[in-house]
Amino acid sequence: MTKIVILGSGGREHALAWKLGKEVGEENIYMLPGNGGTWNNYPINPLNFKAVKSFCEDKNIQWLIVGPEDPLAQGIYDYFYDSSTQVLGPSKQAARLEASKIWSKHFMITYGVATGRAVFSTDGNSLDAFIHELDGKVVVKYDGLAAGKGVKVCESSLEAWEAITDIRKKYGNNALFLVEERLVGREMSVIGLTDGKSIRLFLPSQDHKQAYEGDKGPNTGGMGAYCPVPWYTPTHAKAIQKKIIEPTLQGICDEHLDYKGILYFGLMITTEGPRVLEYNVRFGDPETEVILPALKSSLTGLIENTLNGSLEKTSPEFYPETFIDVVLASGGYPGAYEKGYEITGLEKISPDTLLFHAGTKREGEKLVTNGGRVLNVVARGRNLQEAIEKVYPEVEKIHFKNKTFRRDIGRREGIV
Ligand code: AMP
Ligand code: GLY
Repeated sequence: MTKIVILGSGGREHALAWKLGKEVGEENIYMLPGNGGTWNNYPINPLNFKAVKSFCEDKNIQWLIVGPEDPLAQGIYDYFYDSSTQVLGPSKQAARLEASKIWSKHFMITYGVATGRAVFSTDGNSLDAFIHELDGKVVVKYDGLAAGKGVKVCESSLEAWEAITDIRKKYGNNALFLVEERLVGREMSVIGLTDGKSIRLFLPSQDHKQAYEGDKGPNTGGMGAYCPVPWYTPTHAKAIQKKIIEPTLQGICDEHLDYKGILYFGLMITTEGPRVLEYNVRFGDPETEVILPALKSSLTGLIENTLNGSLEKTSPEFYPETFIDVVLASGGYPGAYEKGYEITGLEKISPDTLLFHAGTKREGEKLVTNGGRVLNVVARGRNLQEAIEKVYPEVEKIHFKNKTFRRDIGRREGIV
């Protein structure tokens, strides 16, 4: 049986462990470091490549699946080049699609991938002209990884310049950033596996990034998700294929990027068609908690074909239902919050609901909160409305001090 290490400790990693555990046996899944819901947890930091590699060698691990972006951006794929463990993820060069917003935007422009117009911090006076032309309706993005805190969506020129000043204060006067036109439309995530030549997509999904109902408040890691997206039509799929996916794969090929892993397109569907907001080089969280339950085919089979470069032969199948994930968070998140509160009620959850842990920890017999996003409650229904009706009663059964969640997951834009 294939032995697999999963790096990371969130809901995404628990969902991966759940799906792969069913296919290869739970005893063949190892979590570095995992959380209160996962098993075979080993307290190794995913950024300690040396420790990760010796672990994989000791245990004869075949596949290393990387949850978060940081190890990929720091070159974990390259670090394993001489190892018998295969890493599912791009090389350090290729991970710049996520790790450098400037490099990534240049890539999109070079290969004709549909995206918003932008200017760069190095463009001097045109920066001012661009912000002025768009009347401050821009998005200022710091070049590097900033754990979701490097992006400021602006309303006015004043706000845009404040965002630039903030970046310079934080990262120095020569800090690299870009200013992008602010796109209007519906945001969605398209996530796939690529072997660098072909791509196979999971179902389209939607995240809910803001902390409060009505998409208000600060950006979080994601407060809930669902898939598939009911308004997504074959016309959208065709446009995304032609204007985004094909040129991206062409770019990966022409740049000789070593890429056998996950490719995530963060999209805005505008009245002029789909546009890329960002690439990620790993699974989304919380999107993974819905796209994996919706996958009927074996994930192991898909990963095997990705690593062998034979994805072309695969055509994944999906369940026909809608899947929804409501994130239970610690009050205060994404700002300061307290941890260590006991979590109760999990035994009352109905058997067809899935629970993916994120910020949880075992303390003896007890399960306690250990992070901002604590648990993902995932239900399925014949359609989005039914999925919503099924998930919220389950959410109410779980208790911990300062529990918070959004009551409007899936209800955006009058869809339901
Ligand atoms: P990013 O880290 O690039 O995904 O940006 C974080 C969030 O900012 C996205 O999920 C969008 O909600 C928003 N965003 C980023 N770029 C744009 C844009 N060009 N227009 C409008 N919103 C954007
Ligand atoms: N759900 C957004 C992300 O994983 O970046």
